[in-house]
Amino acid sequence: MVQVKVEKAKIDQKQTSLLVMGVFEGEQDFMQSKELDPTVFASIKETLENKEFRGTFGSSILVYTLGRGPMKKIMLLGLGKKDKFTDESARICAGKAAQKAKELGVKEFSILQFSNLDEGLIEAMTEGVTLALYSFDKYKEAKEPATKIEEVTILINSDSPKFQSIADKASLIIEAVNFARDIGNLPPNDCPPAQLASIALSLAQEHGMKAKVIDRYELENMGMGGIVAVGKGSNSPPKLIILEYNGSSDPQQKPYLLVGKAVTFDTGGISIKPGEKMDEMKFDKCGGCTVLAVMRAVASMKLAVNVVGIVPSVENMPSSTSYRPGDIIRMYNGKTVEVLNTDAEGRMILADALAYGIATYNPKAVFDVATLTGAAVIALGANVAAIVGTNKQLTDRLRKLADKTGERMWELPLYDEFHEQIKSTYADIKNVGGRPGGAITAAAFLSNFVNGVPWVHIDIAGTAWTQDGTYEKSYNPRGATGFGVRTLVKLLMEDEKQQPA
Ligand code: BES
Ligand code: ZN
Ligand code: ZN
Repeated sequence: MVQVKVEKAKIDQKQTSLLVMGVFEGEQDFMQSKELDPTVFASIKETLENKEFRGTFGSSILVYTLGRGPMKKIMLLGLGKKDKFTDESARICAGKAAQKAKELGVKEFSILQFSNLDEGLIEAMTEGVTLALYSFDKYKEAKEPATKIEEVTILINSDSPKFQSIADKASLIIEAVNFARDIGNLPPNDCPPAQLASIALSLAQEHGMKAKVIDRYELENMGMGGIVAVGKGSNSPPKLIILEYNGSSDPQQKPYLLVGKAVTFDTGGISIKPGEKMDEMKFDKCGGCTVLAVMRAVASMKLAVNVVGIVPSVENMPSSTSYRPGDIIRMYNGKTVEVLNTDAEGRMILADALAYGIATYNPKAVFDVATLTGAAVIALGANVAAIVGTNKQLTDRLRKLADKTGERMWELPLYDEFHEQIKSTYADIKNVGGRPGGAITAAAFLSNFVNGVPWVHIDIAGTAWTQDGTYEKSYNPRGATGFGVRTLVKLLMEDEKQQPA
């Protein structure tokens, strides 16, 4: 991945092929530029005075220096109105700069701090650059572009070393986000459950985590009826992937449990989906990818917390061995589920993973991440994840962090009434609750398997990849977004700080 360096330097000091300067809209008297070579300064001044460039959000213009200064060219980058500028704007603008620089074919560039220096700004600028320069070209012969950007320097007005360490930490987290994108983007023919399991095992080995993969027959013996039922229609058998990271100085410290849905391809099964956009169901593994990536980030940063990540992985296929509508399945915690739609498979596999994880690891809190329902996209669109939880404090914590990371999350209510919709005539519960409130009845279903432990469910059906209705952001290239990784890592980092040293 591209290296981000933070250096104290004045505008006219840095030897670079491209210097990016942010300009706020309506504040075109850019003081710092006065330190430039007078001719270059005059050229910029004219561009601004001509109103060829107004600083509107995301706009940009290039100024060539023709040898008058240590930078080959300068990019003026519009930051929009100053009073509207947030960390998310910094992320988007830094991403924009990186995209433009990539188009210009440079190997490195420098970027002046956009606004008043603080930790949030440097973190957001680092994130914007490293997220935007991601590309998935594993299956392309001609890699684009031919020259890759290897280094980006953020120029700041302080020599405190803390800003470099903030950029380094942010880079470790983005490496994990890009890892989530890399596996999320894998085509379904190259990523059956066994492949995902082997990726997880290598990840664990590389980062010193405990890892275990439970195979089909053992799952059956253990009573994981949900995972086995969904998995049995495919020739690629199901896997339950478990990673453990123990970073707390107190090994008795209760862990966080993260559970992620990894349906490597969701055809719907016997209740088969229509053909249109079915290819996008390769992204139905993205919840699991998010969980694996969070584990990677936490381990690479050596956070002082304990975390268990569980990823149930299946392929949901129609065949003569598939589970069917009408089947009644006994789940890991003993509850029975009447299957009324085999396309509601995510909750079937998550239910077993949640119940098993909670019984085995006695976690202090549980998060699950899943591309669970089309209804979540209908409710909140493709830019906001739906969250549903049983613990107000935990849900609020997550939502507040999401406001900062730009990974938007909004809570839906789990009122008692929703449980009525999933009552079954023949079993304890059924796996669908009808169209009304579909994202919430899915969560109501899952709540049967969390045994009173504080729990938040994150439905990323709209946000896990760029799709119809996605608001284009410079830092989210097409495909899997790695949504949720940054916010969950932030939550675990926050928790680390609260622990006694
Ligand atoms: N993986 C899908 C949910 C999904 C659909 C995510 C579209 C992103 C975009 C899930 O397994 C599913 O098919 N859910 C059904 C549930 C229904 C049968 C109760 C749905 O949302 O239609
Ligand atoms: Zn489905
Ligand atoms: Zn699914």
